[in-house]
Amino acid sequence: MITIIERAYAKINLTLDVRNKRADGYHEIESVMQTVSLHDDIYIRIGTGNPWELTCTDEQIPTDCSNHAWKAAEVFFRAMESDPDGLDISITKRIPSQAGMGGGSADAAAVLRALNGHYGKPFSDSELAKLAEQVGSDVPFCVLGGTKVARGRGEILECLPPMPPCWIVICKPDFSCSTPALYRQIDETVIAHRPNFSAMYAAMEIQDLRKIGENLCNVFDALAETKHPEIEQFKETAISNGALGAQMTGSGSALFAIFDSQEKAQRILQELQKDYEAVFICNPV
Ligand code: C5P
Repeated sequence: MITIIERAYAKINLTLDVRNKRADGYHEIESVMQTVSLHDDIYIRIGTGNPWELTCTDEQIPTDCSNHAWKAAEVFFRAMESDPDGLDISITKRIPSQAGMGGGSADAAAVLRALNGHYGKPFSDSELAKLAEQVGSDVPFCVLGGTKVARGRGEILECLPPMPPCWIVICKPDFSCSTPALYRQIDETVIAHRPNFSAMYAAMEIQDLRKIGENLCNVFDALAETKHPEIEQFKETAISNGALGAQMTGSGSALFAIFDSQEKAQRILQELQKDYEAVFICNPV
């Protein structure tokens, strides 16, 4: 029996704007999203002849049908109108959970890509991204990856010029933020500072990392900061150590900082490792 292996890359939100709440309960968003090299590894065995099984190196992650990777496999085989006669998914976790890095979504997207590849690409990339909508709002982006602007509830995707090469330091503090709670809270908040999408687009187009750093903006960042002063501390430390920009990703609680020099990124990585367990250095992919 063959084992398919697929990387599940994390994402960060370079910008995240939340607009009106829709009738279906989701919010209209506009977000510049970027895939980064930090990744989980997904191993899939098809046709085990046994009931479906999912295992994960992180014991906190659910291993039943509530796991997005499991859901993605269900969605895939439903669309294929076929039964794999047993499936085994094994996840080596590196992307921190409840971090706003799309960890569960990345795993789900990797399952969709891996299965699609195995069966000779019955679905085009855009058809696969459409299937991904059934699993979660961030899954279509994770299927396609790269540098994209996401609109709608996250499923309307448009390619942007790629982010220039750089080093991204990521730190996941011990606290976590609830995504639905932050979305609820934002409905009752007057948002003082919103991302400037045109400025971010222009910065990507001219490959200006400094301008990309200046235009980082996440509307959840200010909300979370009122509760967690650690966020502001991280940003101050990052900027004073040469970061071109720093903020929270998605609905948190992971924080990231962008550097144009590996040395500077390594230096702050070592600083942060004194206080935090989950600290990573990665690149855009
Ligand atoms: O789609 P997903 O399951 O990832 O969304 C998790 C929760 O985040 C939703 O139930 C909703 O409360 C909130 N959400 C939202 N608007 C979006 C995406 C997510 O309100 N565009």
